[in-house]
Amino acid sequence: MGSDGVFVGQDLYSGSSFVYDPWVLYAQGVITAPNVVIAGIVGAGKSSLAKSLYSRSIPFGRRVYVPGDPKGEHTAVAEAVGGKAIALGHGMINRLNPLDAGHRPNGLDDAQWTAQVTARRRDLLGALAETVLDRRLTPLEHTAIDIALQDAVHSSDVPVLPMVVDRLLDPRDRDNRLAEDGRIAGHALRRLVAGDLAGMFDGTSTVRFDPTLPMVSLDLSRVTENATLISVLMTCASAWMESALLDPHGGQRWVVYDEAWRLMAHPALLRRMDAHWRLARHYGIANMLIFHKLSDLDNVGDHGSAMRALASSLLSNAETRITYRQESDQLGSTAAALGLTGTEQTLLPTLGTGQGLWRIKHRSFVVQHQLHPAELRLFETGDRARG
Ligand SMILES: Nc1ncnc2c1ncn2[C@@H]1O[C@H](COP(=O)(O)OP(=O)(O)OP(=O)(O)O)[C@@H](O)[C@H]1O
Ligand SMILES: [Mg+2]
Repeated sequence: MGSDGVFVGQDLYSGSSFVYDPWVLYAQGVITAPNVVIAGIVGAGKSSLAKSLYSRSIPFGRRVYVPGDPKGEHTAVAEAVGGKAIALGHGMINRLNPLDAGHRPNGLDDAQWTAQVTARRRDLLGALAETVLDRRLTPLEHTAIDIALQDAVHSSDVPVLPMVVDRLLDPRDRDNRLAEDGRIAGHALRRLVAGDLAGMFDGTSTVRFDPTLPMVSLDLSRVTENATLISVLMTCASAWMESALLDPHGGQRWVVYDEAWRLMAHPALLRRMDAHWRLARHYGIANMLIFHKLSDLDNVGDHGSAMRALASSLLSNAETRITYRQESDQLGSTAAALGLTGTEQTLLPTLGTGQGLWRIKHRSFVVQHQLHPAELRLFETGDRARG
């Protein structure tokens, strides 16, 4: 695949070095979108490959965002490259304010910036309410949230979620129908302020997402198994990140979704991922989506649902598909999804750790990812790493 890019390892067919860089291939017109999908069984070496791909690209000026790291395994890498990992969860001191204005890109005038912040806050509050309610909001509920948000923004320079909840549940000087329309959304958001999710989203932020760092990751390993909480945290984080991502001068950035099958179960998150996927080209973003088997995508939402369609569009918009070892019952569906030849299909169950079948557009490579001993120590996951 040419000689420009980061070193990945050895091409097992030709014996030569294999290098890869989605931005280079995009610039050369080899691929039309820089997104990458990696699938393989537990322990096949997917996360290690991801860590090498992104950390080896940092010296070339690329930045890395991990908007949700359920195992906390990217934290050590973030720190080693001079970035930062933000750990969130119950009992942690860190708090984030979903209404933060976020990163202001250069080149926006005040009116454009205000419009952008307003739109982001509105979207985020809507997404948070939908996540807690586990359904889409009605137009009336959107309006009620909008008005409560406007009131909160007018009354404070640093609006926080409790202000919005107060106004939703008690819209002074407004007519009663508004209170009725916003009541359920108000109670949903109240859960983040006074309910079981209190303490993380109800004040000013104690941590900042600094998009100028080489790497930022959101460590969710301390979040107890609470699907709503993970979803709410990731939704906030991706909104933060969006403000940085949507800076056309932000440079080339990896956005890594490790353990993506967990994240894709949340509809509001999946819609955001899909939006980022579509924006990738324009903003210099390369998304990386990691899961176990391609049929994970078939388990998203109900058959024929919008969620399922979104999940499969993620796959079809990734022209780099890296398949690590697959269980034998997955071979047929994997081969069908990726358009593999019979030989490639029979190869999949024989792949060893760190070996993958790379499909870049219509070309195939079998690559042994080579880890430097220092990387091996830094990337070490599982029981051995925890001691
Ligand atoms: N290219 C490689 N060369 C040598 N060892 C490797 C390589 N890739 C991974 N390993 C070893 O395999 C272990 C598991 O790798 P990794 O955590 O990347 O797997 P994974 O596919 O992400 O697993 P999971 O599905 O559990 O997340 C690592 O701790 C590392 O020791
Ligand atoms: Mg992994």
